[in-house]
Amino acid sequence: MRCPKFSPTHNGTWLDGKSTHHGGLAKIHRANSNVVIKIPDGIPAEYAAPMLCSGITAWSPLKTRRGTGKSVGVLGMGGIGRFALIWAKALGCDSVMAISRSSSKKNDCLTKLGADSFIAISDDEDWAAKHVGSLDLIISNHRLRHMPMKDLLGLLKVNGSFITVGASLDDLPDINTFSSYCAMLKIEAGFWGTFEEIGEMLEFAAANGVRPLVQVFDLEETNQVIAQQYAEMSRYKFVAKVQSSSEAWTSSSHG
Ligand SMILES: NC(=O)c1ccc[n+]([C@@H]2O[C@H](COP(=O)([O-])OP(=O)(O)OC[C@H]3O[C@@H](n4cnc5c(N)ncnc54)[C@H](OP(=O)(O)O)[C@@H]3O)[C@@H](O)[C@H]2O)c1
Repeated sequence: MRCPKFSPTHNGTWLDGKSTHHGGLAKIHRANSNVVIKIPDGIPAEYAAPMLCSGITAWSPLKTRRGTGKSVGVLGMGGIGRFALIWAKALGCDSVMAISRSSSKKNDCLTKLGADSFIAISDDEDWAAKHVGSLDLIISNHRLRHMPMKDLLGLLKVNGSFITVGASLDDLPDINTFSSYCAMLKIEAGFWGTFEEIGEMLEFAAANGVRPLVQVFDLEETNQVIAQQYAEMSRYKFVAKVQSSSEAWTSSSHG
């Protein structure tokens, strides 16, 4: 159900209708206990922090919307995409395919993140024909405007689902109704996950030793790290250590 008083903490308008949220970092945060989740002892804070955003955004469609035992494609190898590969493997998906714009992330995806196969859209010839009808679902965290949507949907089996979790101000690219309805495809969207799903994800990660790739830095180094993220198209979740006691963390990635 939609919350009528929903006010996003980033790029949203506060309930007075005037001020705008820009996100932020804090050493102390006071919140209603209904919206606080215990981090299991088995997950160090630097791994738990990125799970609370990218992690749950990838987990929710995979776990709740039937990824296990299926052939899964993940489009866009950024923070959410890398989590989707890790979860898909740990949850026992039949096969996991990473789909990226180029080959630059191929090695990491196949050797560190559990992908069974890799498509580089701009480098691999005939990728669309080679893998046609091979996936049950695609999780997309891409900015979709310039994506070859027809070919991407062609990767799905009959009854397959294309789930977009990427947030973009652009519209979806045109989708050909004839080919989509012939294959009875479902186009869906995902938005984070419920508190129950977050708790379940954390327990699963603790029990199965699932860890994202992270790089920890001190909060004072934030400006250098942001520049580094843009320059190098990072392969890791950068996690800021907010307190020297290592009790408070936040994370981000780009690329
Ligand atoms: N639905 C939700 O609940 C939810 C929650 C959190 C975030 N989000 C949104 O999900 C999206 C992905 O988040 P993320 O943390 O995974 O972002 P990210 O780390 O920046 O990764 C996005 C990926 O998109 C691909 N991409 C396509 N066009 C691009 C371009 N012009 N510049 C850079 N990358 C491009 C890249 O993959 P390749 O290099 O592999 O092609 C990139 O790694 C964002 O829009 C974010 O705001 C949604």
